Amino acid sequence: MDILANKRIILAVTGGIAAYKSAELVRRLRRCGAEVQVVMTQAAAEFVTPLTFQALSGRPVRTELFDTDAEAAMGHIELARWADAILVAPCSANTLAKLAQGLADDLLTTLCLASDAPLAIAPAMNRLMWSNPATRSNLDLLQTRDVQIFGPGDGDQACGETGEGRMLEPEELADKLEAIFKHHTLAGQRVTITAGPTCEAIDPVRFISNRSSGKMGFALAAAATEAGADVTLISGPVQLETPAGVRRIDVISATEMLKAVMANITTTDIFIACAAVADYRLQTPATSKLKKNAEELQLGLIKNPDILAEVAALPEAPFTLGFAAETEDLKKNAQAKLRAKGIDMIAANQVGHKQGFDTDHNALEVFWQSGQHSLPQASKYKLARALIKLLADQYDSKSKTVHKTENINDQNP
Ligand code: PMT
Repeated sequence: MDILANKRIILAVTGGIAAYKSAELVRRLRRCGAEVQVVMTQAAAEFVTPLTFQALSGRPVRTELFDTDAEAAMGHIELARWADAILVAPCSANTLAKLAQGLADDLLTTLCLASDAPLAIAPAMNRLMWSNPATRSNLDLLQTRDVQIFGPGDGDQACGETGEGRMLEPEELADKLEAIFKHHTLAGQRVTITAGPTCEAIDPVRFISNRSSGKMGFALAAAATEAGADVTLISGPVQLETPAGVRRIDVISATEMLKAVMANITTTDIFIACAAVADYRLQTPATSKLKKNAEELQLGLIKNPDILAEVAALPEAPFTLGFAAETEDLKKNAQAKLRAKGIDMIAANQVGHKQGFDTDHNALEVFWQSGQHSLPQASKYKLARALIKLLADQYDSKSKTVHKTENINDQNP
């Protein structure tokens, strides 16, 4: 699977002859598994019809800020939140100037202003427009705000001139877009993540389990990989594709999950327990299908091992991040679990009907011994990226403290 798989990309197309190349870009991004929402300015629609982009992206193209029908399906603020990244390609000199000044006079500029997703632009314009001091200073402004500038390239231009200002080719743009999602905060670290539910057999056809789609844990595996980590994902039964570059081990029960975790733990630097592990299992599962003649059925349950607590209690324990799924007293219960399990961090989520599980969105309250941080409602992928960044900070400061203590001990044997 590609890094761009399942990423939600807004491809914003402005008026320029290079707009025809953006049609090919949509095909490439879709081939990588990305969801692409095309947004066009009125000028862009003079070069390529919205219908072309609709056919290639599989989604109606958005062109107007005040389109009642489109807004009823997904409002522009919702669309801005939906995006994992926004790429303006081609980006005309006019749109570049509007973005630099923070204007919001059409759908495209409004989305860029209303989104916290990474923003990239692929400038395409005549060479003199590109080298004009006004464009240069707009560009400088955008760069100070971490807007990524893809290109432009050098060569023959549609206007008959030769020079800098050609939009990069779709293949180069797709590669650069992929690179946006990669960073190095966990470079070289080995991360083991548990995800999904565990299933505990009652008989050969029935089981008890917990609610969990695996989406949060899989998003964490993708985010940790994008942060440069070497990731092993130990998952209960789920219907999800393995993120790009992740090694996956499938298990069914809590006992199997514990065994798989422990087999990996000596080569793990960071352990993330996101799985919804069943707390109990049948003492003796039936070996043949139970008959349903009796009015009542007693199941003899025994406690499952607490995988996270066992990992945290190891003499050479890795850095540990647990989750707390709570229906009430989120903060109190999460902090109690942080202490009781002896872990480094805990991410607490409120769970219930369409909350925490059974949904693509979530919100987390993250606690560690000396601090806390709220991650408000967002897609599980965006939350995972933010959580991995928080974890990398805490992991880094713990590693520095351990290193300092070792140095002091070395000096005073
Ligand atoms: O999978 P999704 O549909 O995306 O939903 C995500 C989620 C709601 C399942 C996830 O965000 C979450 O909260 N996962 C932890 C669920 C859970 O079991 O929480 P808990 O509070 O019961 O357990 C506390 C911690 O101990 C967890 O890190 C859990 O993985 C771990 N644990 C619990 C029991 C056990 N026997 N072994 C464990 O390792």
